[in-house]
Amino acid sequence: MKKTIKDFDLTDKKILIRVDFNVPIKDGKIKDDNRIKSSLETIKYAIDNNAKVILLSHLGRVKEKEDMKKLSLKPIALRLAELLNQNVKFVEETRGKKLETEIQNLKNKEVLLIENTRFEDYPDKLESKNDENLGKYWASLGDIFINDAFATCHRAHASNVGIASHIPSGIGFLVEKEVKAFEPVLNNPKKPFTVILGGAKVEDKIPIIENLVTKADHILIGGGMAYTFLKAKNYEVGKSLLDLDHLEFCQNILNKYPNKIVLPTDSINALEITEDSITHDKNIEDFMDDEIGLDIGDSTIKEFEKYIKMSKTIVWNGPLGYAEYKIFSKGTKKIAEALENVKGVKIIGGGDTGAILENLGFKDEDTHISTGGGASLELLSGKILPGIDIIDENLEK
Ligand code: 3PG
Repeated sequence: MKKTIKDFDLTDKKILIRVDFNVPIKDGKIKDDNRIKSSLETIKYAIDNNAKVILLSHLGRVKEKEDMKKLSLKPIALRLAELLNQNVKFVEETRGKKLETEIQNLKNKEVLLIENTRFEDYPDKLESKNDENLGKYWASLGDIFINDAFATCHRAHASNVGIASHIPSGIGFLVEKEVKAFEPVLNNPKKPFTVILGGAKVEDKIPIIENLVTKADHILIGGGMAYTFLKAKNYEVGKSLLDLDHLEFCQNILNKYPNKIVLPTDSINALEITEDSITHDKNIEDFMDDEIGLDIGDSTIKEFEKYIKMSKTIVWNGPLGYAEYKIFSKGTKKIAEALENVKGVKIIGGGDTGAILENLGFKDEDTHISTGGGASLELLSGKILPGIDIIDENLEK
């Protein structure tokens, strides 16, 4: 068992907390602050326990010097201050005298946010390649490291693995909650166990399919990726999205597990992808050459609902249609409603899926919506997350 923030006496200590504030920002405005809100419990706990709180996060990917202009964490510092109802000191650098002095002057219960850790990626990728000196330097700024950035735990970067290699470490409440939520899926899932997969690319879901196909009773496939699977069964799918590089993978998995992989039997088709396209619910055998499949149809919804109703464990990753447009979001919405009516372990593998479902009005307190897209995919693929692996063990538990 890993150490948690509760295993440390935080009073008078400088606590470095790695959070994931990688939120969508447009024209300087935060579009979705869920990830900031998810970090509040740990930050507040550190404040309440008289720590000096130093936060680190990345935002976006910094490849060119230009990228830095739009990737400052400053708007996030302002939003965090509102949410915490207290001042957040923002230091516009990732290392140097100013940062060190601000940290030296920090008092108990005060919060400081360091500039985007990925500014260290220009030009030598120091953060992303976990540069030894950078991790050591950031570690020297604090006494204890707490990793609460679940969504970044699949990365071995200087601001998580690097720091944790040099000072005592633990996980925060968000990482603890995420790990606990995934446990009943990864270890002996209650049966029937159904996996729902959607989204555009087959390639992204191959590791999950390979890891879960033996454990799950059924894998229901929708979204853009379904059309490659249908093509693998020799259906003509018009101009639908195809991932021909992975056609063979689909053929092999369908041959090996013919009764586990459940594909759509009908599809919502249109001639173009617009918000007011004319659509037809077509049987899979009846695709026209110029049609694009953009959602699962009514018969498929009914079929998928049948599997969902009888499940005790459900994992869902990826929307089942082009759900950004309302006209192609019915399948995703209906399946979300079916999920709400089932009792059991229910997990939505974060990233876009969670955000899309929330936009469609999905609210189910019994379903865990993960804050990590890539991280949840890797966990479900059976991989070890380096950001958690590096954290100190609690040997007393
Ligand atoms: C995410 O949004 O998935 C995490 O913040 C990780 O971001 P990254 O894919 O840029 O490392």
